[in-house]
Order: sequence, then structure tokens, then C-alpha cells
Amino acid sequence: MNRREAIVGVACGALGLSSLAAVKGAENGGKDSIEILTKVRSASKFSNKPVPEEDLKKIIAAGVNAPSGHNVQPWFFAAVTNRELLDEIDKLAGLNPGRLTLTGSPAAVFVCTDGSSFADFDAGGACGRMGAAAVLLGYGTKTIASPCKVVNEKYKEKLGIPENFNARAAFLVGIEETPAFDGVSGATERAPFEEKVSFVK
Ligand SMILES: Cc1cc2nc3c(=O)[nH]c(=O)nc-3n(C[C@H](O)[C@H](O)[C@H](O)COP(=O)(O)O)c2cc1C
Repeated sequence: MNRREAIVGVACGALGLSSLAAVKGAENGGKDSIEILTKVRSASKFSNKPVPEEDLKKIIAAGVNAPSGHNVQPWFFAAVTNRELLDEIDKLAGLNPGRLTLTGSPAAVFVCTDGSSFADFDAGGACGRMGAAAVLLGYGTKTIASPCKVVNEKYKEKLGIPENFNARAAFLVGIEETPAFDGVSGATERAPFEEKVSFVK
């Protein structure tokens, strides 16, 4: 069992799940995986271990293959693992040092859109898929919008972002030091289900 598997195992254990096999159960529509995907929260601290490019590509592929309005695929994904560059952008953006931002993340995927009608909605859906893929691979994630202004003003060319696209969010991926799988401790509370959902039967 590698470290990532161990982390998922710990997370599963915290949820009363048996092992990584429970996460893998998602491939079979396993109910334990649904519980994990419902309860997982934003990462608050990553280890400095790199995310292998192969895993990062799998995560981004989940976004690239997401559905979009009229299938226009109004997105572009700029992945950055260069430590100096992530720190430089973070510094310029003046991000809150107390929070997990680019500096604490081994990898960031800048999710960019072209400004078309459904673009942000589509890109949000793509981020959701990437989040699910990352969790199933044993990673933690956090989405932050705060570095986007600096990226759009100064780094588009360096990041290979096409001229007509703008970064809307940075999707952070890493191995969590303390997996935020419990949905309670250290995580933001959610409104009750009934307050946010209506059912007409
Ligand atoms: C579109 C979007 C933008 C966000 N931007 C930031 C950000 O700039 N900085 C930050 O610390 N968190 C950011 N967040 C994280 C949210 O604050 C966080 O998901 C929310 O408070 C719920 O917390 P939890 O996921 O830890 O439970 C963002 C989340 C989303 C979905």
C-alpha cells in the first residue's frame, strides 16, 4: 500500500469504511464512495509530495470530458506544477497566508473559460468531475478564485492560455496531510438539505 492508498484508507476508516476498496467501489456504483463524495471538504493542508503527471492528466481528463451546453466545451485547463511559478503568482496576488493557496499546493490547474453564455456553469461542472476523479485517486482538492486576476493580467502567455480565454478558478490538487473527509471537524458547515432542495412529487 502506498502513501496515497494509506491516506484514503485512513479517510475510509474515519468514515467507518473498510479500505481503499471502498473508494474503488465507485467504479461499481458503490454506496460508500457516494458517502465519501458527499462528505469530502476542501483540503486545508497538502504535503509537499508532487502529484505525478499521469494522475494529474487523469484528473484533468475528467474535466475535459465533462458535458457542456451545446457541447461547446468553453474551457481551457492550464496545469502548473512549477514551484517557483506558483509561489510567484501567489505572492503577486497577495493571497491570505493563513489559507491553503498556490504556495501550499504541489499542483494547480487554472480553469479558464471563453465568456460564452454557459461557460462558467460548464466549467464549474468540469471542476466537480475533476474533484471526484481526484478523490477517487486518493487526493485532496481545493478550488480558489483569488489568483485569477493576476493570472489574467500577467501570466496568460506563460501559462499557454489562449487569448480569448480567462482563468476563472485555480483547482488545487495534492496529498492531504489531514484528509478533510469527515464533513464536520474543521470544515465549513452546510445548510440543511431541506433548505436548499425542493421536491415536487
Ligand atoms: C468558485 C470557488 C472559489 C473559491 N475561492 C476561494 C478563494 O479564493 N480562497 C479560499 O481560501 N477559498 C476559496 N474557495 C473555497 C470556499 O471558500 C470553500 O469551498 C467553502 O467555504 C466551503 O468550505 P469547505 O469546502 O472547506 O467545506 C472557493 C470555492 C469555490 C467553489
